[in-house]
Amino acid sequence: MTNETQLSLPEQFSPTENCLKDKIIMVTGAGDGIGRIAAKTYAAFGATVILLGRTTPKLEMVYDEIEQAGNPQPAIYPINFEGAVEKDYIDMCNTLEREFGRIDGILFNASELGQRTPIQSYDADTWSRVLQVNLTANFLMTKTLLPLLEHAPSASVIFTSSSVGHKGRGFWGAYAVSKAGVENLCEVLADEWDGVNQVRINTLNPGATRTNMRAAAYPAENPASVAPPEQHMPLYVYLMSNDSVDVNGQHFKAQ
Ligand SMILES: NC(=O)c1ccc[n+]([C@@H]2O[C@H](COP(=O)([O-])OP(=O)(O)OC[C@H]3O[C@@H](n4cnc5c(N)ncnc54)[C@H](OP(=O)(O)O)[C@@H]3O)[C@@H](O)[C@H]2O)c1
Repeated sequence: MTNETQLSLPEQFSPTENCLKDKIIMVTGAGDGIGRIAAKTYAAFGATVILLGRTTPKLEMVYDEIEQAGNPQPAIYPINFEGAVEKDYIDMCNTLEREFGRIDGILFNASELGQRTPIQSYDADTWSRVLQVNLTANFLMTKTLLPLLEHAPSASVIFTSSSVGHKGRGFWGAYAVSKAGVENLCEVLADEWDGVNQVRINTLNPGATRTNMRAAAYPAENPASVAPPEQHMPLYVYLMSNDSVDVNGQHFKAQ
């Protein structure tokens, strides 16, 4: 079922006002970069957004911005994916079950860049941390929250990938490997869930985007030459909306 080519946003998609109304959507790494804009966009289309991240003041700023825009009141769930273990995700599941009863969508967006260096000199601790944050956290959280996703009439999970995950490239080390793992984990889950539940899973590669991560990876680049996160939001909305209910196990690119 998985398409190895990267798909684009269907041309005919045009999000309707409130197309995410009454959906409960979690966004990891919601305090900055693409995650911040995605969380605000989902809220603007009517979703109740649960903001996850490791820097609470940043999450509080996004919370305030959503409230000030008059959109549904969000929630904050502080978590550092570097140190989180399975028990933390079980606690998360219990809290969310009590507060919301179900989850309609998860955007796995939080990631670390790690080092831009040859494998020969790649620091072993950084390797473990990047795989933990970018890949293992996705596995643990998806595994643990699956019952809440199954409580939704039609839930959507999005893993965030990258071009270097689709095709490895030198000097991208653990980041590239973690993103390849994310694409494969998506395929494994999509295959397991196909015809079994109402949960779909796809990957989204935003491509070059004007954020702190991009600036760290390409310090000499003029940020103005790179697309802002806002430009990719139609694809982020499409994959969370009911327009994509039949799309499962696919890899999408925003540009
Ligand atoms: N920007 C690009 O050009 C580009 C291209 C391809 C793919 N991507 C992917 O797009 C996604 C978003 O990237 P971005 O450019 O928006 O990056 P970013 O600006 O660096 O934002 C990353 C977010 O992840 C959070 N995060 C990092 N480590 C964490 C941890 N241990 N626990 C919890 N949260 C953590 C950060 O929290 P803090 O704010 O607290 O640090 C931040 O909110 C990533 O998956 C990235 O791989 C980006």
